[in-house]
Amino acid sequence: MPNPQAVLVTGSGGRVGQAVCRALIERGHKVRGFDIRSTPGVEDSLTGDLSDFQALQRATRGIEAVCHLAAVPDEDDFLSKLLPNNIVGLYHVLEACRLNGVKRFIFASTGQTVSGHAGPWPVTPEMPPTPRNWYASGKLLGEAAAQTYAHQYKMKNVSLRLGWCPRTSEHISQIKKWDFGQDIYLSPGDAGLLFACAVETTVPFDHVVCFGTSKPLHHTRFCIASAKQYLGYEPQDAWPTGHDS
Ligand SMILES: NC(=O)c1ccc[n+]([C@@H]2O[C@H](COP(=O)([O-])OP(=O)(O)OC[C@H]3O[C@@H](n4cnc5c(N)ncnc54)[C@H](O)[C@@H]3O)[C@@H](O)[C@H]2O)c1
Repeated sequence: MPNPQAVLVTGSGGRVGQAVCRALIERGHKVRGFDIRSTPGVEDSLTGDLSDFQALQRATRGIEAVCHLAAVPDEDDFLSKLLPNNIVGLYHVLEACRLNGVKRFIFASTGQTVSGHAGPWPVTPEMPPTPRNWYASGKLLGEAAAQTYAHQYKMKNVSLRLGWCPRTSEHISQIKKWDFGQDIYLSPGDAGLLFACAVETTVPFDHVVCFGTSKPLHHTRFCIASAKQYLGYEPQDAWPTGHDS
C-alpha cells in the first residue's frame, strides 16, 4: 500500500463493518474500530455509543478517513431507534470529524433510497430518490449532510448506497428465492473492497454518490458506473459467493 491511512470504522463490530475492517487491514491501513459491541480482529477498537460525543471526539483524533457504518440497519421506530442512532449519531460523527480535521467521510447509505423505483433499469444515482420509509429517508438526510460538510469544510465525501449484504439466515433464504435480491447482492468481500476503494481513490471530487453491489446475476438493477469511475471499484463476487464469510 503506497499511502496507508489512519481510518476509523464506526459499526466495526457489525456485518459490513467487520468486512470493511478486514479489507482495510489487509491493504495496510491503520484501522480503529468504534462500536457498542466488541470488534473482533481489530486491535485498536473502542467500545462506545454514537450518543457519546466526547467518545467520538477521542475516536476521530489523528484519523484521516472515517467509514461511518454504525446505525440501525433497517426500518425501525423513528423516535426511539432511528432518530438517536441514525440521525443524532450521524451529527455527532460529522461534528467530531470537523473538529478533528478529518479529510474524508465515507457514509454507508442504502439502495433503499430508491425502493420505489419502478424502472427503467438500471437506476443511477442521478435519478430522483424514491424512499419508502423513515430508514431510507434518514439515509438521504445523511447523504445531504455529508455533501454539506464536503462543501463547507472540505471533507471529501463518498456516500455508498449499498446493495444487500445479508446479516441473517432469513436474509439468505429471501435472496435465494428472489432474482432481484440476487441482482443487488453485495458480498462481504466486495463490501470491504468498495469501502477500501473509497478510502484510497485519488480521483478528484468533493462529493459523490455511488451504488455498490457485487456482479448482478440476471439484470443490472443498481448502476455502479460511478463506483467504477470515481473509486476504481470492480466487484469480484456474484450471488451466492461469499455470503457465509
Ligand atoms: N447489510 C446491508 O445489506 C446494508 C445495506 C444497505 C446499507 N447498510 C448500512 O450499512 C451499515 C452497516 O450495516 P450492517 O448490515 O453491517 O448492520 P449491523 O447491525 O450488522 O452493523 C451495525 C453496527 O453498528 C453498531 N451500532 C448501532 N448503533 C450504534 C450506536 N448508537 N453506537 C455505536 N455503534 C452502534 C451495531 O452494534 C452494529 O455492530 C448500516 O449503516 C446500514 O444502514 C447495510
